[in-house]
Amino acid sequence: MINPLPALNLAPAALADIDAIDRIEREAFNTPWSRDLLRAAILNAQYRVQILSAPGEGVVGFYIAHTVNEKSNLDNLAVGAHVRGNGYGRTLVTDWIERARADRLESLTLQVNTANRLAQRLYEAFAFRTIRLLVSYYPNGEDAYQMERRLAPLPEQRTAPPEFGRSWFIPRRRRSGPRP
Ligand SMILES: CC(C)(COP(=O)(O)OP(=O)(O)OC[C@H]1O[C@@H](n2cnc3c(N)ncnc32)[C@H](O)[C@@H]1OP(=O)(O)O)[C@@H](O)C(=O)NCCC(=O)NCCS
Repeated sequence: MINPLPALNLAPAALADIDAIDRIEREAFNTPWSRDLLRAAILNAQYRVQILSAPGEGVVGFYIAHTVNEKSNLDNLAVGAHVRGNGYGRTLVTDWIERARADRLESLTLQVNTANRLAQRLYEAFAFRTIRLLVSYYPNGEDAYQMERRLAPLPEQRTAPPEFGRSWFIPRRRRSGPRP
């Protein structure tokens, strides 16, 4: 019998992962986050820093997202240069979306360099659409697109089909500020 390959592992980043994240970050971006920023994100409860590890490869990619007012923003996403094209980017985006849905968030936002067609196509495949141009968004003056998508609630978050004009969705108390 053939043994199945060990599964990929997605987990919250620890401070010990900063070296691996920093290496991938520097490979990926002209204006990488500093190690101090990465450390601050890992320690901040409002941020999700999630790392993807593959058998025999160690950390192959990560994403950083933060939540404010029922929205999650993807602040950072990168896959190691030598392991791209293996579906790891899709796996990370899927994890971000599923966790935001489980947290009952309403929408997702991200910013992507206008020149980065590959990443834009990846997000479009997940139903994100471009909503505005952010001029000189990056520290080096390059522009970004803001992309967004709304989140449909999970089946168990829905009420019965509407009757007599009732709402489809379970009403929720809105928070006025960031989560504690
Ligand atoms: C964008 C990025 C995260 C994608 O990661 P990845 O692991 O290579 O992505 P996947 O393997 O899941 O592939 C996603 C899509 O990109 C395509 N793709 C991946 N590498 C490609 C390449 N070298 N050339 C053309 N297409 C490529 C895949 O075919 C796939 O498209 P498909 O679903 O239509 O087949 C990765 O390229 C990266 O880290 N880039 C630098 C950092 C970056 O741009 N981050 C995004 C910031 S907004």
